[in-house]
Amino acid sequence: MPSLLVVNSSPNLEHSHTRALVDQYVTAWQSKHPTGTVVYRDVGINPPPHIDGPTIGAYYTPEGDRTPEAQAAIALSDELVGELLAADEVVIGAPMHNFSVTSGLKAWIDHICRVGVTFRYTSNGPEGLLGDTKAVLISARGGNYSAGSPAHAFNHQDTYLRTVMGFVGITDVAVINAEGVARGEEGLAQAREAIAKLAA
Ligand SMILES: Cc1cc2nc3c(=O)[nH]c(=O)nc-3n(C[C@H](O)[C@H](O)[C@H](O)COP(=O)(O)O)c2cc1C
Repeated sequence: MPSLLVVNSSPNLEHSHTRALVDQYVTAWQSKHPTGTVVYRDVGINPPPHIDGPTIGAYYTPEGDRTPEAQAAIALSDELVGELLAADEVVIGAPMHNFSVTSGLKAWIDHICRVGVTFRYTSNGPEGLLGDTKAVLISARGGNYSAGSPAHAFNHQDTYLRTVMGFVGITDVAVINAEGVARGEEGLAQAREAIAKLAA
C-alpha cells in the first residue's frame, strides 16, 4: 500500500498558497492511489523546537547507550524520522521566507538529518540512506526567482531543499515553484498546471 507524507510549513492556515497547492497534489495522489495512506505533519502551525545540545548529543550516542534523558531529547526526532522512513513519497509545502525556507521547515530538517539513520559517513563522504523515497517540493514566493530573473541568485529555498533531499539520499525529486505570487495569478496558475501534469 503506497504511503505519502505531507509536510506543510506555512505558518498561515488561511490563504496559504503552498497549502492550497499541496492539497491539489494530495487530492490527485489519492485518486491515483485510492488505498494509499496519507500522513500529515504540520511544521508551520506546530513547528518542532530548535535542536539543542542534549538532542545533538543523543544523535551521536548509540541507541543502546542513551540515558532516559537522551531518549527523551531524541523522541521527537525519532518520530519525525519514523514518518519519513515509512513514506514512499514525501510532499513538502515550502513558502519562501527571507530567501529560504520557513524556520519551522528548517527545524524539521534539523530533526530528520540523522547520522546513522537517514545518512551515514563513509570513506567517500556522507551517503544518504533514503534512496527509495520520492519527493515533491512545492514552493511559493512573492517575487520571481526563476532562471534568468534578476533575483535568481537570491533563491536559497528550493535549491536548499533539493540539497537536503540529496543529502538524505532522495534523488527522485520534482520541484514546482509558484513564482511572483505577490504580483498576480500567473505563477500560481503555472504551478497548478505543473502539479496536474505531475500527478496525472
Ligand atoms: C516572513 C515572510 C518572509 C517572506 N520572504 C519572502 C522573500 O524573501 N522573498 C519573496 O519573494 N517572498 C517572500 N515572502 C512572501 C511569501 O513567500 C509568499 O507570501 C508565499 O505565498 C508564502 O507561502 P504561503 O502563502 O503558503 O504562506 C515572505 C513572506 C513572509 C510572511
